[in-house]
Amino acid sequence: MSVLDDDIEATVVSTEEIQSKITELAARIDADYADREPLLVGVLKGAVMFMSDLARELSRPSTMEFMACSSYGSNTTSSGVVRILKDLDRDVTGLDILIVEDIIDSGLTLSWLLKNLQARNPASVEVVALLRKPDAIKVQVPVKYVGFDIPNEFVVGYGLDYAERYRDLPYIGRLRPSVYGG
Ligand code: PRP
Ligand code: MN
Ligand code: MG
Repeated sequence: MSVLDDDIEATVVSTEEIQSKITELAARIDADYADREPLLVGVLKGAVMFMSDLARELSRPSTMEFMACSSYGSNTTSSGVVRILKDLDRDVTGLDILIVEDIIDSGLTLSWLLKNLQARNPASVEVVALLRKPDAIKVQVPVKYVGFDIPNEFVVGYGLDYAERYRDLPYIGRLRPSVYGG
């Protein structure tokens, strides 16, 4: 982890800022779901850190599921057409789904996921995202809980990867352009 730190040129969201934001989001979610048990649906792999910290910060019970999706098309541009690599393990009819995402970039993944999950007749579907890039949005998605709006820069850490690395950094950092050939 300390070796990876050398590839980061600036901290965008510190560990402490992440932790206090999760405390704040969890309090809102606790209040909103006072009489319901949310089913947290984590989107692999980026959401794993946020999902595990958020679930432990909620003071009321929740359950967990995971989905893995992949966009068709090139690696650099998301087409909005999504393929399910790993589906939910259970029927969610009548359940209160809370989608947990690390970041909303173009919004295409989430837009597709919302439609897909809504079609399964849950009682409700909401979204909690730790990060959002307002300047990268291509499709508006209704997101109830957002941690931080950040600039449209290449960020990694706390679940977010570049070529599958840096997910294990405990903070969000801006990647040195030399790392990705910029
Ligand atoms: C990233 C991120 C979000 C999605 C956001 O996942 O974790 O899930 O992209 O992009 P969008 O708003 O433009 O659709 P990625 O597909 O890189 O998979 P990963 O979570 O396994 O890294
Ligand atoms: Mn992801
Ligand atoms: Mg990724």
